[in-house]
Amino acid sequence: MKIIPYAPQYEESWLRCRVLAYLHTAMYEDVVTKKPTFDGRPAIELIAVEDDAVIGLIDLVLDTEEQKTTILSEGLGAFLPVIAVHPDHQSRGIGMKMYKAALQELEKTAIEFIELYTRDDVQANNFYQKLGFEIGLETYDVYGTEKKLMKEITVEGIENKKFKVKDANSKPCHYLIGGAIYYEVFDKAALEEIDYERYHVSYGYFKRIK
Ligand SMILES: CC(C)(COP(=O)(O)OP(=O)(O)OC[C@H]1O[C@@H](n2cnc3c(N)ncnc32)[C@H](O)[C@@H]1OP(=O)(O)O)[C@@H](O)C(=O)NCCC(=O)NCCS
Repeated sequence: MKIIPYAPQYEESWLRCRVLAYLHTAMYEDVVTKKPTFDGRPAIELIAVEDDAVIGLIDLVLDTEEQKTTILSEGLGAFLPVIAVHPDHQSRGIGMKMYKAALQELEKTAIEFIELYTRDDVQANNFYQKLGFEIGLETYDVYGTEKKLMKEITVEGIENKKFKVKDANSKPCHYLIGGAIYYEVFDKAALEEIDYERYHVSYGYFKRIK
């Protein structure tokens, strides 16, 4: 296994590694179909490669005085949008090695802290806590529908291959919410206002490196 800078020839392998790494986590629906780039912003993009396949990946996008993404500490931060290890290779130290390789690159810059967000998976939270990250923010990622948006409807039949639907006031109704909406909730008490299928605590972590 070697850790090297990301190169476009690895894009397909990068995407497969990412989707498989997230498959059995609380972030399973977070699928990307193109390797994210950072619009020319300074970034560190590393991959762990074995037999020419990507088995691990880490990206960090760095704040500049002109453009800042981080919010959890003072000064210039590096935002970590993704770290992932292929499930066949997890818990063998590859995540740690990639993090340390990225840290070495960060030490050459003016970056003072690292910031990231993750949900309530034990593996990821253990990983960041072992590295000395602390929680700076707690929000809730909620999948459901606000109770006030829910409509009572009556399906009266099918006419010209279309549903004929009336709302509670017997007015024609032409649409309804067909599935869960994603809400970012800032206060746990607000969960009462949502009829949710599931929610995840989202932790914002940061670690000072200077
Ligand atoms: C989180 C992740 C990047 C860690 O990489 P890794 O190579 O599996 O982890 P390492 O082998 O380097 O282990 C480092 C520490 O992580 C934690 N950890 C790793 N695997 C774990 C597991 N199966 N259960 C609980 N904690 C675990 C432990 O604290 C471990 O330290 P230890 O070995 O002294 O106990 C990787 O497991 C992964 O890709 N998980 C799925 C995707 C994900 O959650 N990414 C982060 C989202 S923001």
